[in-house]
Amino acid sequence: MAVRDEAAMGELAARLEAVIKARLPSGGTMAWIDPPPGRALGLLGAKGFSTRFDHASSLGCEFGAWFSPPAPVDMVLVTMPKGRQACRMLLAMASEAVKVGGDIVLLGETRLGVKSAAADLATVCGTPIEKLGHAAHGAAYVAQLGAAVTPAGLSPWWQSWTLDGLEIASLPGVFSAEALDAGTAFFLQTLDAAFVSRHNKIMDYGCGAGVIAAWVARLGGDVEAMDVSALAVASTAETARRNGLTVSVLASDTIDQTRRRHDAILSNPPFHDGRKVDLDVARAFLTKARTHLKPGGTIRLVSNRFLPYAEPLADVFGSVETVAENTRFRVLQAGGRSRKSPGANRRADDE
Ligand SMILES: C[S@@+](CC[C@H](N)C(=O)[O-])C[C@H]1O[C@@H](n2cnc3c(N)ncnc32)[C@H](O)[C@@H]1O
Repeated sequence: MAVRDEAAMGELAARLEAVIKARLPSGGTMAWIDPPPGRALGLLGAKGFSTRFDHASSLGCEFGAWFSPPAPVDMVLVTMPKGRQACRMLLAMASEAVKVGGDIVLLGETRLGVKSAAADLATVCGTPIEKLGHAAHGAAYVAQLGAAVTPAGLSPWWQSWTLDGLEIASLPGVFSAEALDAGTAFFLQTLDAAFVSRHNKIMDYGCGAGVIAAWVARLGGDVEAMDVSALAVASTAETARRNGLTVSVLASDTIDQTRRRHDAILSNPPFHDGRKVDLDVARAFLTKARTHLKPGGTIRLVSNRFLPYAEPLADVFGSVETVAENTRFRVLQAGGRSRKSPGANRRADDE
């Protein structure tokens, strides 16, 4: 699965720092929608940025699904996300945040189609684009907003699909925004009414569009869901709302922010950082999860078979059990009174 290469985007921004700064009027205001973490943010003179903020500006940092400054800014930088629709949404967000005549700067990876995104930038602005520069893996383009746009916010961007009678609502760019992930589908088969009756307070860590959260909430679980992405948090809340379910949704990059102790912690954990597998988030989550479980509580997660979660789980919990597996995925469980679910241990040809 291709995801954004944050290091490449940071390198591109750092290389173009002088060019970008030169375009900003003296005393002008600048915002950056979905900035890459790291060095480039500091180089652009902003303070207090962190990966937890989806939008940052010279007016301050903010976490939220939609960036809406108190007054239009002189320049908006947009880091291109994966997915054309997700990028179009961020460009629309930028067009509502910038002054007429102000710059929208798009930074993106060649591999993810920055040229096509630049064409979308021209459409949004109604003016021609100019190439600002490039680095090893990407390029930056700019256009000036030609005319004021009517603010529409997030409303036009919602999409949805159904899962066994549940409506899964999602914003572009959120994990499984358009369809059920195969690993999540396999996981759900192990989460039945019997499991939920034994585990009332349940955490869905890395909730995405809220598929797991909604599934176990419908079975009667008292669910808290958590994700680092503002778009995912908004999507999970909307999924719960559309299905008349109560799910408490938290924005955080660490499970330590949970407000309570759980009977079960469930997850399809993230394992990418940029272009490569990165298990740091998952390892930190596995290490910390135990302190957020009630005594006898259970952690259950699904992953691609090649991911080495069994060892860290066994290190923390003493032992680990395979609840179900097929040729692609494995559902692991640790802690608690682990019991195999009906329908578990499915074979590849059951898929
Ligand atoms: C593999 S997706 C699973 C999404 C959803 N649970 C599903 O199965 O459809 C992993 C999710 O973890 C989120 N994530 C990534 N890093 C995180 C972190 N540090 N803390 C919490 N969530 C994180 C991502 O935004 C993504 O939504």
